[in-house]
Amino acid sequence: MNSFKAYLIEGSADAVRSGFTTLDSSQLDPGDVVVRISHASVNYKDALAATGKGKIIRRFPCVGGIDAVGVVESSQSPRFKAGDEVIVHSHGFGVAQHGGYAQRTRVPADWVNHVPHGLSSLDAITIGVAGYTAALAVDLMELNGTSPARGKVLVNGATGGVASISIDILAQRGYEVVAVTGKPAQAQYLKDLGAKEVIASADLPAATRPLEKALWAAAVDSLGGEPLAALTRTMHKDGVIASIGNAAGFELTTTVLPFILRGLRLIGVNSDNEPALREHVWRRLATDLRPRHLDSIRQVRSFAELPQVIDDVIEGRIRGRNVIALDE
Ligand SMILES: NC(=O)c1ccc[n+]([C@@H]2O[C@H](COP(=O)([O-])OP(=O)(O)OC[C@H]3O[C@@H](n4cnc5c(N)ncnc54)[C@H](OP(=O)(O)O)[C@@H]3O)[C@@H](O)[C@H]2O)c1
Repeated sequence: MNSFKAYLIEGSADAVRSGFTTLDSSQLDPGDVVVRISHASVNYKDALAATGKGKIIRRFPCVGGIDAVGVVESSQSPRFKAGDEVIVHSHGFGVAQHGGYAQRTRVPADWVNHVPHGLSSLDAITIGVAGYTAALAVDLMELNGTSPARGKVLVNGATGGVASISIDILAQRGYEVVAVTGKPAQAQYLKDLGAKEVIASADLPAATRPLEKALWAAAVDSLGGEPLAALTRTMHKDGVIASIGNAAGFELTTTVLPFILRGLRLIGVNSDNEPALREHVWRRLATDLRPRHLDSIRQVRSFAELPQVIDDVIEGRIRGRNVIALDE
């Protein structure tokens, strides 16, 4: 396969245009590992990048897609050999170098992990960067004292990819998970993932004073902005918030009082990790943090449907993880 199909983001930060094209092997980026991609996924960041609604792309033109799975075709790294099933994600993938919306890629070995024993490639891309980040958040929260005995854990943006997998992982570890969503019609989906309670975001009590009634022992925040600010005001003593995303905004206006009077721990979670940490998190995703509901979390769509899925993500019409099958 010298030429292959790709979804390319072209133009500039101020005028992005995206569409299908054909690339050939001479256009692959530098790297150690060549992968024949079978599936990629559509993350919130991918949709912002492909539409230009967020200034995500750091090099034009760039194939979109910040995660993908496939089979190694060739490798100059001793860690990988032809035929290995791998997942590629984070760092510059689909941002500063061609990403997952292409039937072939070449990437640095540090962006690649073996699909862990016990997971299929389809499971691995259903988890993808969203589930990886959810598992990293749980890992970091527990290192900072979070445990089921401490009380309820709030997960917001609950029908999203990061949140769906967070709910699944936390519930099976015995946490009482409260899912907060702008789509209350999806309450049954969230309960099936393990949420004990589902609250419509519009029904959350207003939280504007520096310290409000303490409600949550921990929280997984995909939203940033005002929802994150409200969380800082409503955490128990020594509560832990994992700050993962900015779907509602990137600003954070709060006070130091929750930090100095309640010992709030606000943990930043970033998925650009070195190989040892990636290995650790993927191993846990295949064992003690393995999500149990990947079949209901994933929707698989064809490569041709990618532009529609990107629109659906931007318009908030999706739930869970949206997997794209690149094999045609
Ligand atoms: N730190 C990292 O390394 C890392 C890694 C992966 C993702 N992220 C970030 O994490 C966030 C979630 O990613 P994702 O892939 O899970 O996205 P997603 O699947 O699109 O989910 C985001 C969810 O947030 C809610 N939402 C969307 N727009 C909103 C708005 N304007 N106001 C309030 N709620 C809104 C929706 O849930 P409901 O309708 O259920 O409320 C939506 O399903 C994104 O900001 C992403 O960039 C960061």
